Amino acid sequence: MHNERFFDQTLEMINRGAIHVAVPMLTGKLYNAFADPARWAETRASLHRHALLPVLMQDPLAAHSASRPRGYPGDAGLIDLIYDMQPPAGVSEVAREFFGVTVQFQAPEAVRQRRIEAERLVAQAKQAGQRVLVLACGHFREGDPLTGSDFGSFTLVDQDALSLERVRNQHGPAINLVEANVFRYLRQAAKQGQTFDLIYTLGLTDYLDSRAMQLLHRLMKSCLVPGGRIVLANFAPNHLSIGWMEAVMDWQLIYRDEAELEGYAQEIGLNATTWRDPTDSVVWCEMTGG
Ligand SMILES: C[S@@+](CC[C@H](N)C(=O)[O-])C[C@H]1O[C@@H](n2cnc3c(N)ncnc32)[C@H](O)[C@@H]1O
Repeated sequence: MHNERFFDQTLEMINRGAIHVAVPMLTGKLYNAFADPARWAETRASLHRHALLPVLMQDPLAAHSASRPRGYPGDAGLIDLIYDMQPPAGVSEVAREFFGVTVQFQAPEAVRQRRIEAERLVAQAKQAGQRVLVLACGHFREGDPLTGSDFGSFTLVDQDALSLERVRNQHGPAINLVEANVFRYLRQAAKQGQTFDLIYTLGLTDYLDSRAMQLLHRLMKSCLVPGGRIVLANFAPNHLSIGWMEAVMDWQLIYRDEAELEGYAQEIGLNATTWRDPTDSVVWCEMTGG
């Protein structure tokens, strides 16, 4: 009942044109509810029963995420909306207003910060002439600043042919693109004795359960040259739009802190260095020492 009154008022505010007030308030409420597992299922269910939810779906980020146009959550098209901070062409004024608020949330900012850090990683590796393996590359937007340069020492893997097509259009035929599940790719690469100086993956591990993480780590290590490094970034469990993402965007991630990521590194005998991004919502983990 309490939830419904809150949602009624939120809807009223939106109808009166106060999206910029209503959406952050709702996001705060969902954050608090998410923190209480006993309350969360009911809060989420009551939002999904309420007339507010279809109104929130005018937000292009929520609509893209919840409708999963490529059949899975967190596709590179959604990530592009976040990177470019431009709503899709032709959307309504209300949709633009929603987007103007939600694209500024902490988690989308973390995604943009993650890319900035990845741009540095790519530039350094390229300058050092390293062989680089990018797992779940999406649109490889961290390579955009170096468009036109030689990416011949890079191998990019993604399961999504559309994503690879975008990379091909951006970087031309020299870049080595593999359409595959990362696990299948790594198994085969290890069998063939292929190795890399740097293996990194962003926006993948947030979807992998513990067993899949262990397997990924073992397989990545088997494709790493001695002295090479593995880098990954995983969302941490404390960002403020966590309830909005789960309940409105239907975007569930597996959140991990530093100790958890360090644990996976230890299991494969590598040393981990971890740090947080500027928004305090993504944990980076660099593994070396193999
Ligand atoms: C959230 S996007 C991240 C894209 C990019 N790394 C970035 O940071 O912008 C996730 C990408 O992972 C890919 N992906 C998810 N699971 C995968 C798997 N098991 N094997 C290969 N690609 C996968 C998806 O196709 C999608 O392009």
